Amino acid sequence: MSKVRLGIVGCGYMGQRAHLDNYATLPDVELVALADLRPQTRQEVARRSGIPEVYGSHTELLEKADVEAVVAIMGYGLHHAVVPDILRAGKHCLTEKPICLKASVARQLDELAKQAGVVYQIGYMKRCDLASRHTKQMIADWRASGVFGALKLLRVSMPPGDWIFGMDNPPNLGDAPESPGPVGESLPENMSADEQNRYNAFVNYYIHQVNLIRYLLGEDYTVEYVDPTSVLLIGRSKSGVAISLEMAAYTLRDEWHEFYAACFDRGKLSLSLCAPLARQHVGSLQVYRSSEAGGTYESLVLPPSWCMLEQARLFIRAVRGEIPCISPATDAAKDLEVAEAFIERLR
Ligand SMILES: NC(=O)c1ccc[n+]([C@@H]2O[C@H](COP(=O)([O-])OP(=O)(O)OC[C@H]3O[C@@H](n4cnc5c(N)ncnc54)[C@H](O)[C@@H]3O)[C@@H](O)[C@H]2O)c1
Repeated sequence: MSKVRLGIVGCGYMGQRAHLDNYATLPDVELVALADLRPQTRQEVARRSGIPEVYGSHTELLEKADVEAVVAIMGYGLHHAVVPDILRAGKHCLTEKPICLKASVARQLDELAKQAGVVYQIGYMKRCDLASRHTKQMIADWRASGVFGALKLLRVSMPPGDWIFGMDNPPNLGDAPESPGPVGESLPENMSADEQNRYNAFVNYYIHQVNLIRYLLGEDYTVEYVDPTSVLLIGRSKSGVAISLEMAAYTLRDEWHEFYAACFDRGKLSLSLCAPLARQHVGSLQVYRSSEAGGTYESLVLPPSWCMLEQARLFIRAVRGEIPCISPATDAAKDLEVAEAFIERLR
């Protein structure tokens, strides 16, 4: 099998630790080129990872490197400027989440990817966790069979915790960018400064859960209510499933408590996910079935596999045309519509 020729743009903290290291382990990927604005860092990272071509910007990489796909990892405020260049060059692309800052810009990026006929995958790695994928399938199966009655509620709890989970720092050399790079996207202009701050925090952090709710349900939803302290968001799916997203109801220091409960008339699927940078960890799923004879519990035992590595594998398979993209830009644009509705409901 021929290798997918890959370029990496951006080798900051997430670029190195959550992305580059994973692609370097995939046997069907050839890391061809690396671009970063910071000269010492890009040279050191390329040397350490054995990447032959090194460039000073994403535009230089796109002009000179023979790659099919680009993994571009940088602050999401830059996506609006960098991603169109990648897509117009006909390269498949993966960026981190959120897709950008405004839903209107996100829809344009999605449209550009469709026009170019390339994959644009957003780094919602929680979709790639083996337990998430299993839970999604079980929700669909239970809903289709009706054996456990109707799905009534998807309850999500996401207190802030230790997201790096002991991950070490990459060898960033602390050097400054050679050039300023593209100008960042502005926050939605129809929001006050305070609303912009809340919106930015929401899209930086809870956009993961906003996205996974749609993935698990397999349908879109609307925001019905946000309590004034913004700890609780209530939604409703197109088919009428109630949704609750509990945000910073409490904080954790050294742990990670991320839970999803899909509640049926006569059963519950309880998904628990790991801290984002917990390597060699996988989520877990507990299945509760109620019957006249009593309740039964079953726990699914999955092999350890880091969702960030699974994400890299699934992106390369989508680039090869073997599977549909698991986390397309179309969904990511809808996430920003939910985020904008979150602010509207707070007014
Ligand atoms: N999935 C998660 O759970 C999770 C967790 C934390 C952060 N993130 C996301 O990660 C992103 C931030 O990543 P980071 O911490 O690695 O950022 P960073 O700022 O540490 O690094 C970005 C790098 O990109 C380079 N760069 C910027 N523009 C460039 C260009 N035009 N050409 C070439 N290089 C360019 C910069 O020089 C820098 O080295 C954000 O989008 C954030 O949402 C995701």
